[in-house]
Amino acid sequence: MSDILIHTEAGVTTLTFNRFDKKNSITSVMYGTLADALESAAADPAVRCVLIQGHATVFSAGNDIGDFLNHPPATQDSPVFRFLRSIAQFPKPLLAAVCGPAVGVGTTLLFHCDMVFAGDNAAFSMPFVNLGLCPEAASSLLVPQMLGYHRAAEALLLGEPFMAEAALEVGLVNRVLPPTEANDYAQSVARRIAAKPLSSLVETKRLMKRHHTQQVLDTMAEEGAVFGRMLREPAAREAFSAFMERRKPDFSKV
Ligand code: COA
Repeated sequence: MSDILIHTEAGVTTLTFNRFDKKNSITSVMYGTLADALESAAADPAVRCVLIQGHATVFSAGNDIGDFLNHPPATQDSPVFRFLRSIAQFPKPLLAAVCGPAVGVGTTLLFHCDMVFAGDNAAFSMPFVNLGLCPEAASSLLVPQMLGYHRAAEALLLGEPFMAEAALEVGLVNRVLPPTEANDYAQSVARRIAAKPLSSLVETKRLMKRHHTQQVLDTMAEEGAVFGRMLREPAAREAFSAFMERRKPDFSKV
């Protein structure tokens, strides 16, 4: 069974994180699968909407820490960066259904979605600083834009989780639902979208995003260069080793 399930029906491609035993953390193979699936969905005239979802108890624990430690992305063509560019440039409506923890890229990918539906157990966090890293997925641009600077600084400098109701209040989430209903509700919205004319969907999204896309891509590239360097530095290596060894990191020497 693949770690990403891909299913297309009624004009909707649904991408489901399917690595429950590892809290749907994302390996470079999974990033490659997601990027390929998004490229196919963008090119396929039978697909009018894509939905990204996880499990009712966990959306995604973010980057697979062991994979990142052992195989840090080497170039801008690495699967993780391909995936990030493909969500930033995806031309058709992109939806997400989020329940449980959404850590790191599990949260930052949502800033590229057109609508987000959350279970009331959703917990969003961007703990890059706690991992000796910096924001990715253009979150250094998009989080302050959506949350306002001070709330963004709180989310990005402290890295602590915020819950579904807070995400609803700042506009990251469209609707909060019982966790067992979130995926089905998002699927029903995706199918309503998929019944609409594709050219109108694509042009509407393009027009809403046209002043932003290049800035988002430039920010991603700059963040990616810093993130790639920081992954190899002592603070990140200490944070990642501490996670693997189930102990608190010691940043006193970094
Ligand atoms: N990378 C690799 N493995 C991960 C992982 C990650 N990001 N997140 C969880 N796992 C693995 C754990 O190592 C554990 O594996 P094991 O059963 O072989 O020991 C398994 O998934 C279950 O994780 P656990 O921490 O026991 O689950 P939990 O329900 O107590 O907590 C989270 C869930 C998501 C809150 C917690 O796992 C977590 O904080 N993960 C790290 C998130 C993170 O820092 N991501 C990186 C962002 S860049």
